[in-house]
Amino acid sequence: MSTPVMYSADTNAFDIAWVREQFPSLTLQFNRHGSAFLDVSTRAAMADLFNCDPNEVVFGQNMTTITFALARAIGRELKAGDEIVVTTLDHDANVAPWRTLEEKGVVIRQVDIRESDCTLDLDDLKRKITAKTKLVAVGYASNMVGTINPVAEITKLAHAAGALTFIDAVHFAPHGLIDVKALDCDFLVCSPYKFFGPHMGTLYGKREHLRAAAKRCRQRIARRTSTKPDYSLA
Ligand SMILES: Cc1ncc(COP(=O)(O)O)c(C=O)c1O
Repeated sequence: MSTPVMYSADTNAFDIAWVREQFPSLTLQFNRHGSAFLDVSTRAAMADLFNCDPNEVVFGQNMTTITFALARAIGRELKAGDEIVVTTLDHDANVAPWRTLEEKGVVIRQVDIRESDCTLDLDDLKRKITAKTKLVAVGYASNMVGTINPVAEITKLAHAAGALTFIDAVHFAPHGLIDVKALDCDFLVCSPYKFFGPHMGTLYGKREHLRAAAKRCRQRIARRTSTKPDYSLA
């Protein structure tokens, strides 16, 4: 392996050859041309990263866009008075999308932090998860202060109340191993551009939730199609 020097001493030039060496996929040749296959094996690689099935992986533009889309989809199933729990320790990308559901009367309850050590106040979290809670949105690790949240424990608390969990692992993913099966979370999202991947977001969703969402989507399309006015005889 060559010396990891980004700038050569004499010219101060950016050592592009060394940088390219750090990304083995860039050495791929096809018909004697350098090639990058952006879709081959990607789903399987992400499934390996999450420890899930390849058909539980969803791609999107970035974490924020995916979360807004998921909030919109989950919001369709919620009614006024249902509750979502978010936290003060989280990036706004895991708060603002859920807050959009306040428009339809969903109550957003925000868990506090312990100011002495910037950890999540788990007693407050336990108080804020109620029988009305439908989803707990929490970060795996804080991008602000580095706190790692006990997301497996939080998932247990949420599930005991009949709520789903949505884990923002954007900050955690470049630093630690993710195992969605061990966490038993319902959704988890990360952004590959934070660990030298392309600028995109990736969602893990439990198969049963993705399948149910796809079914609802098909039903909505069918309803729309069947109520369409028939202009064919006009
Ligand atoms: C913890 C955390 N969550 C979410 C985001 C938003 O991610 P994205 O840029 O993929 O929308 C960031 C971005 O820095 C982040 O640090």
